[in-house]
Amino acid sequence: MRLVDAVALVTGASSGIGAATAVRLAAAGARLIVTGRNEERLRAVAARTGATPLPADLAEPGGPELLVEKALAVENRVDLLVCNAGAGWAGPIGELSGAKASELVSLNLLAPVQLARLLAPGMAERGSGRLVFVSSIAGATGVRNEAVYAATKAGLNYLAESLAYELAGTGVGISLVLPGVVDTPFFRRRGRPYDRRRPVPIPAERVARAITRAAARDLDVVYVPGWLRFPAWLHGTAPRTFRRLATRFS
Ligand SMILES: NC(=O)c1ccc[n+]([C@@H]2O[C@H](COP(=O)([O-])OP(=O)(O)OC[C@H]3O[C@@H](n4cnc5c(N)ncnc54)[C@H](OP(=O)(O)O)[C@@H]3O)[C@@H](O)[C@H]2O)c1
Repeated sequence: MRLVDAVALVTGASSGIGAATAVRLAAAGARLIVTGRNEERLRAVAARTGATPLPADLAEPGGPELLVEKALAVENRVDLLVCNAGAGWAGPIGELSGAKASELVSLNLLAPVQLARLLAPGMAERGSGRLVFVSSIAGATGVRNEAVYAATKAGLNYLAESLAYELAGTGVGISLVLPGVVDTPFFRRRGRPYDRRRPVPIPAERVARAITRAAARDLDVVYVPGWLRFPAWLHGTAPRTFRRLATRFS
C-alpha cells in the first residue's frame, strides 16, 4: 500500500517495537495516530513523529471501541492498523493468576479482534487498507512456560490467516509479523528477564522495518529474523521431531 498520507493507527506505540514502528511510518509519510497506556511516553513518541496521541487501555472492556471512536473523530478513517500492543508472562501455568490470564487474552487476542471488527469494514467499503498483526514465534511453535502467551499469539495467527481469506478481493490486505527475541522492555515487564545467550535479541528497529515493509509491499507473513521460518516450518512438518529438539535444546 502507499504509505504517504495513509492514516495509520499503531497500538503499543509508547514503547519498544510500536514506538520504533511509529518513527518508521512517520518517515514514510503516514499520518499517524499512536496509542498506549503510558501518557508521558506516548506523548514523547507523538512529539517525535508528529502523531496524534490517544491513550487507551486495550485490555479493559470497551477500550478498543473507545479508541476507534476517538481515532475516527480525529481522522475520519484508518487505512493501516498495526496491532502491536501486547504483554507476556512466563512461569508454570499453576502460578499464573486468573486476572493475568484474562489480561493476556484480552490484550493480545481480544483487542485485535475488536479493532479488526471495527475497522476492516470501513477499509473494505473504501476498497483499500491493511491490517498488520504483530505476533511472535511463540505463537508458531509454542514455548515452555509461556503457554498462555503462546496461545494468544497462535490465536492471532489464525485470526490473520482467516481474515486474509475473508477479505480477499476487497482491497484490504493482511500481514502477520512474527518476531523472535527483541531487545525491548517486554521481558522486564513480564516479570522474568530474558536469560538465554541465544538467540541474541535483535533491535526493535529491525522489527519496525519489517512491519513497515510488510505494509508497503503487501507481504503476508514475515518472520524477523528471517531464519525463524525454518523452526516454524519444522514444527508444522514434523511436530514430534520439533518437540524432541525443543525439549533437548530448550
Ligand atoms: N520483545 C520481544 O522479544 C517480542 C518478541 C515477539 C513478539 N513481541 C510482541 O511485540 C509486541 C510489542 O512488544 P514490545 O517488545 O515492543 O514490548 P514493550 O516494549 O513492553 O511494549 C508493549 C506495548 O504494549 C502496550 N500495552 C501493554 N499493555 C497495554 C494495555 N493494557 N492497553 C494498551 N496498550 C498496552 C504498552 O503500552 P504502555 O507501555 O503505555 O503500557 C507498550 O506500548 C507485543 O505484541 C509482543 O508480544 C515481542
